Amino acid sequence: MSTTNELLSNGAQASEIPTVSRPQERSAAAERARGFPYRFPRDRRQLGGKFSVGENARRLLRFFYFERRLMQALGAWTLSIPEFEVKLETGRHIFYHGDAARLLRDRLHEQETRFADIDQHRDTEIDRFIEEMLSASDPAELLVGIHQVAGRALQTAYRHHVDDTDPVTDAPTIRLLRRVLTDYEPMLEWAEEAIAAYVEGGVDEARLGAWRWHLKRLLGSIGGVTGADPRNEQPGPLRAASKPFQRGTVPLRDVRFETFKNTGDYDTADGEARFAKDSYENLRLRFIRTQRDEVDAIEAFGTFIWDIRFKDFQAEYDLARITWDEARHTEIGHRALQAAGYDPFELRNRLTGSTCRGPMDPAFAMAEINLFGEVGVLKTINGLIDTARERQDALLVHIADFIRADERTHVRKGQHIVKCMTSLGAQELERRTRELFTECLVSLGAVKPDMDVFTVSREDIEQLVGE
Ligand SMILES: [Fe+2]
Ligand SMILES: [Fe+2]
Repeated sequence: MSTTNELLSNGAQASEIPTVSRPQERSAAAERARGFPYRFPRDRRQLGGKFSVGENARRLLRFFYFERRLMQALGAWTLSIPEFEVKLETGRHIFYHGDAARLLRDRLHEQETRFADIDQHRDTEIDRFIEEMLSASDPAELLVGIHQVAGRALQTAYRHHVDDTDPVTDAPTIRLLRRVLTDYEPMLEWAEEAIAAYVEGGVDEARLGAWRWHLKRLLGSIGGVTGADPRNEQPGPLRAASKPFQRGTVPLRDVRFETFKNTGDYDTADGEARFAKDSYENLRLRFIRTQRDEVDAIEAFGTFIWDIRFKDFQAEYDLARITWDEARHTEIGHRALQAAGYDPFELRNRLTGSTCRGPMDPAFAMAEINLFGEVGVLKTINGLIDTARERQDALLVHIADFIRADERTHVRKGQHIVKCMTSLGAQELERRTRELFTECLVSLGAVKPDMDVFTVSREDIEQLVGE
């Protein structure tokens, strides 16, 4: 409101300031313009817009906070989504929200806001909405809240902002919002189809409708995503008020999968080896299966974002990107199994690592998957690619080449992320991680305690848990 008044009063003042234009200079300028031969495209953008830098920043800060919270919220649910396709897409969407947050954060920094203030910003009203949205009773309700309520409202707000802000003075904001909308369009489109699939598969549509209405009223009660809409009464009662949200700790899979967690070894799990133990054929199939089974890495890195939320934006952002990468590795594995002639669901899915990491302190779970798992992959992948080349195995060369490049970035980013999770030194962190995994692997029956003082080695963990 004040913004509009400000602009009007400025306009009124400006009209009282005389224009001192000299006729000779003006006609000379017109003469020079007539001699200019090029008719470039006309720029039709107009000066004006509804927002000052301050109001722009207020709105972008809310958008940033929503995006950051949606990234964290999806991370919190990664273990608890059973359906393979939904878990994969969620891994991707975590990064879309994280990247939107990053772009908004950079723009806010250009709009007179300090990074420290952006990162420390909290909004208890938005938190109340997020907590309620997280209290979804199943993944279908989660998608309704994340995409149909929050996602759609943000998409509309971004479009309005693009239309309302000054296209000349505030062009960078428009560009960033358009880039974010490029991710939103397929994401929300997918969500509509996914929710329809849940309904067609038997999920009660009326229940989803009631949940959608409840969350819309809750969002309305805080003035919508911009905070500038007229507020309605808060709906009651809130699920999160009677039972605060807690993330799941058990990795869930849908009915198409057969899973195992009593060993880390595929041959043991299968009951019968397909190929000779050290043969190339065996290493190859193990590599491809491990990629498909990195559905558990989506769970690990997604969960870390939630567990270390608000500690460090860069760490959250890097984890979001790694989560997307792991979703791709899972897709690569799934498709490579098909290319190798398998139905991916005929091969049992390894849950050993995720079962151990699920309830664990993030520092030790991260140390296992990043410092042991991903570093371990890099130790062997060069040799695997060389052998694959010699054997002219184009499928394996192709996928492992890209995966190697990704995993190198994960190892690099991991150093900063681990620092945000713990102050333990490297040796202490490794020792404690090995102890905790020994305990877990013994409880799962994956290793037998055959000594008085027994801790699995780093190499055992690399072998047993995979990445
Ligand atoms: Fe991976
Ligand atoms: Fe990785």
